[in-house]
Amino acid sequence: MPGISKKGRQMPASPIRKLVPYAEAAKKRGTHVIHLNIGQPDIKTPKVALDAVRNHNIEVLAYSMTEGSEMYRTKIAAYYAKNDIHVSSEDIIVTTGGSEALSFVMGTIMDADDEIIIPEPFYANYNGFATALGVKVVPIVSRIEDNFALPPISHFEKLIGPKTKAILICNPGNPTGYLYRKEEIQQLAQLVKKHNLFLVADEVYREFAYEGRVHYSILQEKGLEEHAIIVDSVSKRYSMCGARIGCLVSKNKTVIQTALKFAQARLSPPTFAQIASEAALETPQSYFDDVIKEYAERRNILIAELQKLEGVRVAVPQGAFYCVVKLPVSNSDDFAQWLLEKFEMDGATVMVAPAAGFYATKGLGTNQIRIAYVLEKELLVKAVQILGEALKKYNT
Ligand SMILES: Cc1ncc(COP(=O)(O)O)c(C=O)c1O
Repeated sequence: MPGISKKGRQMPASPIRKLVPYAEAAKKRGTHVIHLNIGQPDIKTPKVALDAVRNHNIEVLAYSMTEGSEMYRTKIAAYYAKNDIHVSSEDIIVTTGGSEALSFVMGTIMDADDEIIIPEPFYANYNGFATALGVKVVPIVSRIEDNFALPPISHFEKLIGPKTKAILICNPGNPTGYLYRKEEIQQLAQLVKKHNLFLVADEVYREFAYEGRVHYSILQEKGLEEHAIIVDSVSKRYSMCGARIGCLVSKNKTVIQTALKFAQARLSPPTFAQIASEAALETPQSYFDDVIKEYAERRNILIAELQKLEGVRVAVPQGAFYCVVKLPVSNSDDFAQWLLEKFEMDGATVMVAPAAGFYATKGLGTNQIRIAYVLEKELLVKAVQILGEALKKYNT
């Protein structure tokens, strides 16, 4: 057989999906598997978005403009203005999900062997995009004991070298749920200006901020226009993961012109999904108020229940819909598999994401898991009860 690429061999498998065969086997045995492992919201997609597709009488499903339809980008700019982010349609490239925006950004600003500093734990697919492009991820540890706050700037400075091109943050964080404070964004802004780096912010969870906290975007920070690049998506905002629409936003003209060339190579983002996403921008504020209220309640219940378990520590999330939980086990990969293979309570078990896959540093996160609270409250309570019983049994 002809050999596949070194890159292909190095490409990491998703840490979330590798337990799927065990979950499938458990289901075949008749066990109810409660999925705490994936970030697929159970919230309904806004009706305006679905209706826009249903009621459209397109006759030719043509390519759209490479950078996304002009009307849609103009409306996205208006959405940002409402969030105190002042950009024009020309600063935006519509992409096939935030995922494509991430790979365009890396391709635009980094060459093979260039380095990007990312606070860990981080969204595991950053590793995949970096590997595909030959880019080196340089992790900087954020700690559960600090709720995963921004590591000290002096730690970043130690990691910056001639190959460093960018710092990437996820705000609010997947998997940490941490929402960076304005002061933390300002410290990063100083740093990237001092060392002439890009600051990339994955802000796909912008709306999901709790206890009255307000998200502060890197593009709200004055003087960062040449450095700041936002990655965004409709997936979680409107519970539209299957639309596959996101965007890349920057005031830096060279970044946009270069990213556009990557975009031209894939012709255009999906046309129907842009129609849905444009309509989604009409979603009334009451939809978000209800959704945020629901997630906040889920978060509160989940955290309260987890805190009752002996030996368990949880970083209280302030945004997004994930949390990292430290368990009294030495290997959460093994525990997660055991939960699916060997354990059930009243005919049910839970599937969790072992956290080691969210770290780039070997050996970190081995006693942690990530939980996504995208399930109804009653199910979350039951899931934590199962987790508690399982821990007692696993540790005896
Ligand atoms: C932090 C983060 N960024 C980007 C993405 C990619 O989202 P999509 O490609 O669906 O827009 C996800 C999806 O889960 C995510 O959690």
